[in-house]
Amino acid sequence: MFDLAAVLRPHIASLTPYSSARDEYTGTEGVFLDANENALGSTTHSGQYNRYPDPHQSAIKARLAPLKGVQTSQLFLGNGSDEPIDLLVRATCRPGIDNVLLLPPTYGMYEVSARLNDVTVKKVPLTTDYQLDLPAVLSAIDAQTKIIWICSPNNPSGNLLDPADIRAVIEAAKTALVVVDEAYIDFAGPGYSSWTTYLDTYPNLVVLQTFSKAWGLAALRLGMCFASAELIRVMNVIKPPYNISAPSQALALEALEHVADKESMVAQTLTERDRLATQLGTLPNVQHIFPSDANFLLVRFDEAQAVFEQLIDSKVIVRDRSSVTRCEDCLRITVGTEAENERLLEVLQAIAVAI
Ligand SMILES: Cc1ncc(COP(=O)(O)O)c(C=O)c1O
Repeated sequence: MFDLAAVLRPHIASLTPYSSARDEYTGTEGVFLDANENALGSTTHSGQYNRYPDPHQSAIKARLAPLKGVQTSQLFLGNGSDEPIDLLVRATCRPGIDNVLLLPPTYGMYEVSARLNDVTVKKVPLTTDYQLDLPAVLSAIDAQTKIIWICSPNNPSGNLLDPADIRAVIEAAKTALVVVDEAYIDFAGPGYSSWTTYLDTYPNLVVLQTFSKAWGLAALRLGMCFASAELIRVMNVIKPPYNISAPSQALALEALEHVADKESMVAQTLTERDRLATQLGTLPNVQHIFPSDANFLLVRFDEAQAVFEQLIDSKVIVRDRSSVTRCEDCLRITVGTEAENERLLEVLQAIAVAI
């Protein structure tokens, strides 16, 4: 049996949240003299921002929860996914005592958040084909392991991790949270369903998604975290009260009216991803293009660093991952528009000819 109270840092369970002015009266009509706002208006000319936003983001949650097939009580919204990543570490890990488990190559913020909080980082690299090394992961989990970070589709390799392996980790981790980061889930194709469908089965499961990728809203800083109602309650207690700004909330609500636009952008991205992969495959200095379930491709080049620098000289910016475990000589390339991908291919062709 999973016991959340045993996973949380002892003092967290007894914290009371900051009681915000907007918690004491939830109506929208009235004379609001409770929050020391500027009653006269805003210094902006494009809208009025003088009132604090809804600390519970109720309108977004009411629309988003049914879309995701969860209860509103199982949904937390953060200032990007990076906020729940940090909150989860702070809620569970005692500095200098507990540890988190990472599976490199993986998203960098899991390690940054652990180190910021003086939490030990244990690493079990993925296999050479970027899958879980299940026996090694299971034997690395100890009584002080509080979070196992699994990124699927994985950044930077782009592939989905085998669901059977993920399930084995969730079932084995009796005293840890297993976080499945699905930032790129929308690009994974219709055969794959989110781990959110297992929230009721596994109380130690946490799922992260974001508005930054498929929804095209990276500038809003809006991340989704799905977990048991008990854990979400704790995250709401420890978050800064007004963590999602009013413009972000308003624009997210607008975006939720346009799910079809998201789907159309995903479809275009997948078409471009396939085209880009095919074209890259014709270049003589490309050694390997890793299969992708995301909106980027990990590509192994001859002399990746030199290619990276020459791309920069032509103002084409990709991500150099060549110094990352298991990504030697690899560049990570985000799928752009057709014109952007054409420009990338043109510069890469020129580089290949010059070698
Ligand atoms: C795997 C993964 N998780 C989370 C994030 C961060 O998302 P957000 O913009 O919501 O903070 C990224 C961003 O690149 C990512 O690659």
